[in-house]
Amino acid sequence: MITKGLKGRDFITLRDFSKAEIETMLDAALRLKEDKVMRRSHTDVLPTRTLFMMFFNPSLRTRNSFEAGIFDLGGHAHFLEPSSTRIPALEGEETAYLTERISDVARVLSRMGDAIAIRILGDVVGWEYDKGLRIIEEFAKWSQVPVINMEEHIYHPCQGLADVMTLSELYGRDLRGRKLGVSWAYSPSTKKPIAPHHDFMYAASLFGPDIVFAHPPEMRIDPEVETAIAANLEASGGSYSVVDSMEEAAEDADVLYAKNYVCLDLLPPVASEPRHGDMAKLFDKYSDWTADERRMSLAKPDARYMHCLPCDRGHEVTDGVLDGKWGVTVFDEAENRLHAQKGMMSCIIP
Ligand code: CP
Repeated sequence: MITKGLKGRDFITLRDFSKAEIETMLDAALRLKEDKVMRRSHTDVLPTRTLFMMFFNPSLRTRNSFEAGIFDLGGHAHFLEPSSTRIPALEGEETAYLTERISDVARVLSRMGDAIAIRILGDVVGWEYDKGLRIIEEFAKWSQVPVINMEEHIYHPCQGLADVMTLSELYGRDLRGRKLGVSWAYSPSTKKPIAPHHDFMYAASLFGPDIVFAHPPEMRIDPEVETAIAANLEASGGSYSVVDSMEEAAEDADVLYAKNYVCLDLLPPVASEPRHGDMAKLFDKYSDWTADERRMSLAKPDARYMHCLPCDRGHEVTDGVLDGKWGVTVFDEAENRLHAQKGMMSCIIP
């Protein structure tokens, strides 16, 4: 397999990779998916490799796709349960014998295995916006094997890779002329991260679609990520616009990606502490922001609904959309987590 300088690299954000490098991972993912469908074994791709997976938050898709994926490639996944592991801590944040400095954890694990994958966000980092990313970057600084970001507050690159793989299966690699409607959606939870929105739009932006993004005025995304998305779209022949309603995002769209995410202005560092109570009241003002049949009917007749899952049925999306003709893509998107991550691992794990 031609991996074009990817072996040994960390996979922390899609922004660390060129479009050509992301396409190399997607090409590998598609080849491995075809093998899987045809029941052709590819256990010779990463034989005997061990992937350490550290989850500080729950997961269905990410855990199981990595575990099944490394096994398919000939390797083994090792799940580290935070409650039975001393918590990795940044320098200066240690508690004697309860935590272990990240520099030590990373060096020990990288003597024993071949990659370290980490998910860390939410309450466990006090909703501090960049803390999960800083922790993952600290692992990468000390690890001698690739470090993989399985989601923190800012980025979910594995999800972005699977999302753009799904889009390419629907429309091909060239997304110019395709309208991707993207929207905030209501949820009674105030704990759903913004990272999947960032990386859905970032990954797609490399391939030239017209992204029309709808959100209530308070639900901005990270301006630095937004600038990068808009710049990519300008370079790739697409466009970026922000609108006020899910209807405008859905109108004549090929895809509507509608999902809830937190209000960044009610979390640190903008707020001095997480204000989930105020966020719940704010969300209630927009409780009709649901991807429903009426809104999906504004899109193209063969339009698809996308969501990274887990979704809050009856709030973010109706059963009729998710279980109807529009929603089938959501399960392709989930399945592609397996293939996309196998493609990525086959490229970066030596
Ligand atoms: N989409 C996603 O990352 O799902 P999990 O939280 O179940 O891993």
